[in-house]
Amino acid sequence: MAFDIDMIKGVYTKMAERVDKAREIVGKPLTLSEKILYSHLWEGTPTKPFERGKDYVDFAPDRIACQDATAQMALLQFMQAGKPKVAVPTTVHCDHLIQAKDGAVTDLKHANDVSSEVFNFLESVSNKYGIGFWKPGAGIIHQVVLENYAFPGGMMIGTDSHTVNAGGLGMVAIGVGGADAVDVMAGMAWELKFPKLIGVRLTGKLSGWTAPKDVILKVAEILTVKGGTGAIVEYFGPGATSMSCTGKGTICNMGAEIGATTSTFGYDDSMERYLRATERADVADAANEVREHLTADAEVYENPEQYFDQVIDIDLSKLGPLLNGPFTPDLSTTVGKEMSEKAKNNDWPLVVEWGLIGSCTNSSYEDLSRASSIAQQALDKGLKMKAELGINPGSEKVRYTAERDGILSVFEKLDAKIFTNACGPCIGQWARYSDPKNAPKNSIVHSFNRNFAKRADGNPNTHAFVASPEITAAIAIAGRLDFNPMTDTLINEEGQEVMFDEPTGWELPPKGFDVKDNGYLAPEADGSHVKVSVKEDSERLQLLTPFTPIGDSITGAKLLIKAFGKCTTDHISMAGPWLRFRGHLDNIANNTLIGAVNAFNQKTNFVKNQLTGAYGGVPDVQREYKKAGIETIVVGDHNYGEGSSREHAAMQPRHLGVAAVIVKSFARIHETNLKKQGMLGLTFANEADYDLIQENDTFNFVDLNKFSPNEPLTLEVVHEDGTKDMIKLNHTYNAAQIKWYKEGSALNLIKKQNAK
Ligand code: F3S
Repeated sequence: MAFDIDMIKGVYTKMAERVDKAREIVGKPLTLSEKILYSHLWEGTPTKPFERGKDYVDFAPDRIACQDATAQMALLQFMQAGKPKVAVPTTVHCDHLIQAKDGAVTDLKHANDVSSEVFNFLESVSNKYGIGFWKPGAGIIHQVVLENYAFPGGMMIGTDSHTVNAGGLGMVAIGVGGADAVDVMAGMAWELKFPKLIGVRLTGKLSGWTAPKDVILKVAEILTVKGGTGAIVEYFGPGATSMSCTGKGTICNMGAEIGATTSTFGYDDSMERYLRATERADVADAANEVREHLTADAEVYENPEQYFDQVIDIDLSKLGPLLNGPFTPDLSTTVGKEMSEKAKNNDWPLVVEWGLIGSCTNSSYEDLSRASSIAQQALDKGLKMKAELGINPGSEKVRYTAERDGILSVFEKLDAKIFTNACGPCIGQWARYSDPKNAPKNSIVHSFNRNFAKRADGNPNTHAFVASPEITAAIAIAGRLDFNPMTDTLINEEGQEVMFDEPTGWELPPKGFDVKDNGYLAPEADGSHVKVSVKEDSERLQLLTPFTPIGDSITGAKLLIKAFGKCTTDHISMAGPWLRFRGHLDNIANNTLIGAVNAFNQKTNFVKNQLTGAYGGVPDVQREYKKAGIETIVVGDHNYGEGSSREHAAMQPRHLGVAAVIVKSFARIHETNLKKQGMLGLTFANEADYDLIQENDTFNFVDLNKFSPNEPLTLEVVHEDGTKDMIKLNHTYNAAQIKWYKEGSALNLIKKQNAK
C-alpha cells in the first residue's frame, strides 16, 4: 500500500478536536497554516498560543521523505538508534544520482552501474526498517510524493529543500537536514520556530500563455530570494481555486526560492480531482468530511490583513508570462520586448541553445501536455527546432501515461531527448560539456526552480532563465531569448511566416493515469532478518560507530583553526565533488573546514600544527592531533555554520576529534547539530575575547564537570608565553541536550533509552 488511509483519518480526527481548541487559545479565527501547525503539536492538544517568528515549538510530523543524496547519512545515523522500524511512515527516492546524457534507457543503466552500491544500500536499509523505497527511474521525490503520499492538512518533513512542493495538496511540508529527519524516524519531536505568515490573495484567472509558474515567478520578483524567510506563504482567493493541483505544487515548490519555510493552499475541488485521479478516492472522501478544517476560517480570507503578517495581491488576469534570471530566480522579465532590451543592455546571449522541461517543479501531466501542444504546432506548421530540447518526466506514472497518450512522441519527433524520470540537469547531473569550466557563454531556458551559476551544467558562463514549460518549449523552438510567442512570427521550412496558437493541455489525463511498474518496493513487514551490507573497502559508504563521550574534563586542548569572517556549512563541509562521499564519514571528513579562512594568515586550509610547528591542511593537522590523543577546539566569528542544515558539518569535526566550537554567534541549526553530535557549541560571553585567541594557545575547561543549563562555562586560555586569560563562554544547552553531550550524541541516548 502506497499510503496509509488510517493514519490520515487519525490526523483528521485529531484536527477536528485540536482546531477548536487552538482557535480558543489564540483568540481569533485561524489561517490554514495555523490549523495544520496547532493540530500537529508534539504535546497534543494545544494549551497555549505561540508567538510567530519567536517561539520554538515541538511538532509531530505525519511523514518523512528522503532523496538518495541526503538519505545515505540520515539512514546511517538511524541505524545507530537501535530501533527496529521507523516511527513514522518514511520513503526513500533515488533521483539525484542519475546523470542525463544520452536518454533514459542508457543513462539509467549507467547510473545503476556507477551507483549500484549506494542504491543497494538504500534499498536494503529501507527494507530492514520499514521504509518505502522508490527505485532509480521511479521518479523525482516531490512528484512521487504528490502522486502518492501528500494529503490535505498533513505535516511532512523531507531531506530536500523542495519538500515544500507538497503544499500543492494542502500540506505543511518542510525541508530539513538529515539529523532532524533521523530524530523523527527514531520517535522524537521535531522542533521549528513558529513561522510568520504571508498571505497571497490570487484574484482573476490564468489564461492563454500564462501558467502557475508565472505566479511564483511574480511572487519571487515581489519578495526576492529572502522575502519568505521564516514564513509560511498561504495562497487563497478565487485565483487559487481556479488552478490545478499540480500547478499549485509548482507554486509551492518554488517557495524555496524565496526562502519560505513552506507554502500551502486550502483544500479545494482541484485537489479532490487530483486525489481521485491518483487512486486516492478514500483520502478525498476523508478530506471532504473535515473540509472546514482544511482551509482558513472564512473571516481570515475576508480580512487577511488582520490575520497575516504580510499580504500580497496578484490579479492572475493581468499576469503575463515571465522569464526569471539569469543567475537568480527573483530577477523577473516579461517575455518579449522587455527581455529584448534587458538582454541587450546586460549582454545576455540572445541565442538559446537548450530548452529543458521537467524537474520536481514542472513535470506533471499537465505541464508535459501543454508544452507538447506547442511542440505539436511546430510539427504542424513546419517549424524546425532552433535549440535542443530535453525532457525529464516527473515520475514513471507521468512518463508512462504521457507515452501512452502520444505526448512524448511529439517531443521525440522534434529530436528532443527524453531523459530519466529524475533530477538530471536540475542538480547538475548533465553531461553537457567535457570541460564545463572553460565552456562558452550561452543562454538556456528551463522550467526548473534554481538557476544559480553552474547549477545545471557546471559552466559559469551559462545564463539560465526560468520559465513555464510552454514558454520554454516556444523559446526553444524559436531559439531566441526575446521571442514573444503571443506576438512574434517565425519563418517555417517553406519560408512562410507562422505564429503559435495558445497552448492547450489537460489538467489530468482524459483516459486516467496508468503505469506498468511504478518503481516502488514495499518494505518487508518484519525486516529484522534483512542484512545491510557495506563493503569494508567502500569509498562511498561507511557504517557509523557511536561517538565516544568527550567527557567532563577537557584540558590541554589545542587550537585547530581560528576562522575569520564568514564560515558557512559550505566552508565547513564543501559540496561539489565531495557529494560523492556523503555516505562515508571518514572520506568526507577530508574536506573538513578546508574552505574556512585562517585568521592568522588569511589563507584557507593552511593551519599550524602545534606539535611540529609545521603548517598543513586542516583535516591533515587535525588527524595528527587525533593520533596524538589531543583534543582541539575551533574558534569562529559571527553566524558560524549558516547555510544548509547538513549534519556533516557537525559530524565531520566530531569524527576527527574536535571537542568544542567556540564562536561569536551560531546559525541556530548548526548549533543544534553540534549538540546532537555530542560536542560543545559555545559562544564568547564577551565577543571581544575572540581577539584574545592566539595561534599557539592551549585550552583548559575549568568547570565542565558542573555543566548545567543557564550556567556559563569558564575557559582558561594559556598563551605561548605562559600568560593566561580566563574567559566566560555562554551556551544554550537545556537539561536534555546536556544529556546528549554526556552520552556522546543524541543517538547514543536514544539507543540507551531503547535498550531499557
Ligand atoms: Fe531534484 Fe531539482 Fe527538484 S534537484 S528534487 S528536481 S530541485
